[in-house]
Amino acid sequence: MEKRIVSFSPPDISELEINEVVLALKSGWITTGPRTKLLERRLAAFIETGKTDIDTESEPERWKNRVVCLNSATAAEEMNLRILGIGPGDEVIVPAYTYSASASAAVHCGAKIVFVDVQKNGDAASHMPEMDYEKLEAAITEKTKAIVTVDLTGIVCDYDRVFEIVERKRALFIPMKSKVNPLDALSSRIQQALGRVAVVGDCAHALGASRIVGGVKKYCGAIADFSAFSFHAVKNFTTAEGGASTWRELPGIDNAEIYHMLQLLSLHGQDKDALAKTKIGSWEYDIIGPWYKCNMTDIMAAIGLRQLDRYLSLLARRVEIIKRYDEVCDELGIFHLVHHTPIMDSSNHLYLIRLPGFDEQKRNAFIELMSEQGVATNVHYKPLPMMSGYMAMGFDIKDYPNAYDYYRNLVTLPLHTLLSDEDVEYVCAALRNAFEKTAK
Ligand SMILES: Cc1ncc(COP(=O)(O)O)c(C=O)c1O
Repeated sequence: MEKRIVSFSPPDISELEINEVVLALKSGWITTGPRTKLLERRLAAFIETGKTDIDTESEPERWKNRVVCLNSATAAEEMNLRILGIGPGDEVIVPAYTYSASASAAVHCGAKIVFVDVQKNGDAASHMPEMDYEKLEAAITEKTKAIVTVDLTGIVCDYDRVFEIVERKRALFIPMKSKVNPLDALSSRIQQALGRVAVVGDCAHALGASRIVGGVKKYCGAIADFSAFSFHAVKNFTTAEGGASTWRELPGIDNAEIYHMLQLLSLHGQDKDALAKTKIGSWEYDIIGPWYKCNMTDIMAAIGLRQLDRYLSLLARRVEIIKRYDEVCDELGIFHLVHHTPIMDSSNHLYLIRLPGFDEQKRNAFIELMSEQGVATNVHYKPLPMMSGYMAMGFDIKDYPNAYDYYRNLVTLPLHTLLSDEDVEYVCAALRNAFEKTAK
């Protein structure tokens, strides 16, 4: 077979996205504005949270929306924790097997992170390295304020189980006391309304993924209490950099308050955004709090609007590639994730394989052989307790043996929508060759 160069995850940008960006640039409105607001409404409709009439731009309609677009998932994760009032003295539970942002957002807020190991070989059905739910339950204390569930690779966690656990632990939960500043006052009401540890989804990989939860099919972003999406360049759906904060209906809390507060948090605590200030005579604004700056621009939203038009067909192509990889891995006896089960459809973001009997050294030799054949692979992820920044905080991978075990023989194959059928066959042939050489 003639050598090909197969890159790992290039963005799939068509003329549609390019033309929309040009229109945004020519429109005279390039920061947060009409395109960002339209993307929020369309995403809300897509993931079915706060579904609104997407063509209505009036303020009250906008505030029924349960999506706020931001500049990254990391920012969305932090804003979600901030609106929940999480800070010093609080504990946030995070799986040891994830990307840094799932944990660093809690560190930014001043909370203590508590890592929980994953299940041995991952979830029984999907094999995704989900938290060990017994260990999760045991880790909940009176200080626990949030659990970060990570829908890694686009596979949706067992939220029925997570919600059962937080319900069982209700008696331990102590909501924060109401304070005078508007953010603390809202956070306190949200904590009282929940009356339990908050479930905060890291859905960075999972736009369009769904699962039956409580007997009903729900999309990621509408399952956890608050969720964060990433639209980074390597994700299924991209705005170059970007992300969104989403939430589900919180009983007793007016949705407009959450939408408005997330906007304030992401734009200096300023009560009028640039668009609102352009209205004649509307120069004056207040700063409600000295907050953050992580808004999405209309240039980013322009990419997102046209990506969303194409998104279902992009997902369908990913499913085709996964089916082919599954066939070859099954034939070779290589373990792989199961992206679709009777109760769950993933967003097909990453294709993880685990090479049977391999240690780190053999796995790295396999990666080297793939690379020599022109195929870029990756490892998602080296567990956080193995990273120097987290080791310096006192974490030790010895306390998370299942996370280490999962990582040591793991490889991520290229999975993206610029792969032709011939590329996919080439990756399969390279995989077969590298596996046969290294498995000996
Ligand atoms: C699991 C997970 N969470 C969060 C993030 C952060 O996303 P962003 O780059 O949009 O901040 C990533 C990025 O790769 C991720 O993989």
